[in-house]
Amino acid sequence: TKVAVLISGTGTNLQALIEQTKKPSSSAEIVVVISNRPGVLGLKRASMAGIQTRVVDHKLYGSRAEFDSTIDHVLAEFGVEVVCLAGFMRILTGSFVRKWNGKLLNIHPSLLPSFKGVNAQKQALLAGARVSGCTVHFVAEEVDAGAIIVQEPVPVLMNDTEESLSARILEAEHQAFPAALELVASGVVRLGEDGQQQNLWHV
Ligand code: GRF
Repeated sequence: TKVAVLISGTGTNLQALIEQTKKPSSSAEIVVVISNRPGVLGLKRASMAGIQTRVVDHKLYGSRAEFDSTIDHVLAEFGVEVVCLAGFMRILTGSFVRKWNGKLLNIHPSLLPSFKGVNAQKQALLAGARVSGCTVHFVAEEVDAGAIIVQEPVPVLMNDTEESLSARILEAEHQAFPAALELVASGVVRLGEDGQQQNLWHV
């Protein structure tokens, strides 16, 4: 399965996906990495792995629709079948999400549906949560609300700061995203007609 990874920065999730898809057992091949920001470390990670990169700078587009359309053309150019949003900090338009329904994965640093939106790690701390974690889900039109594919729990420690909890959750992300990509790329998990994730073993 041909995969595109969309990034906005450091790309530690991208790195985890690169390591996973290098394995001979992987059902996925990353064919392009697209960043909405130039010069970020994630682009270097892709280049070092021999993966083609593109920058689609959102500041150069007059509308979200034009930005998304340009992204979509790059995806078509590379014959992409599955898209992973890995630390990608843009909200995609409804028409893009609908077109890629069931083929668009995102990772969020909380156990959804808890703590949607930005600063999810800080929300968990402020709520006094004892357990948080990360979620890989299919992207739906409602932000952070799509069908869940994989979750990984992470303990919240008494002396945790936003930084220490974020770092612990990030480690979990690097396990969860590769696992979720394999499930979708191999066809074991897909989005059902009812908008719920469907496992082959449920059929
Ligand atoms: C991190 O905050 C991570 O929790 C979230 O995106 C941010 C950057 O991740 N998913 P990455 O290192 O660029 O993959």
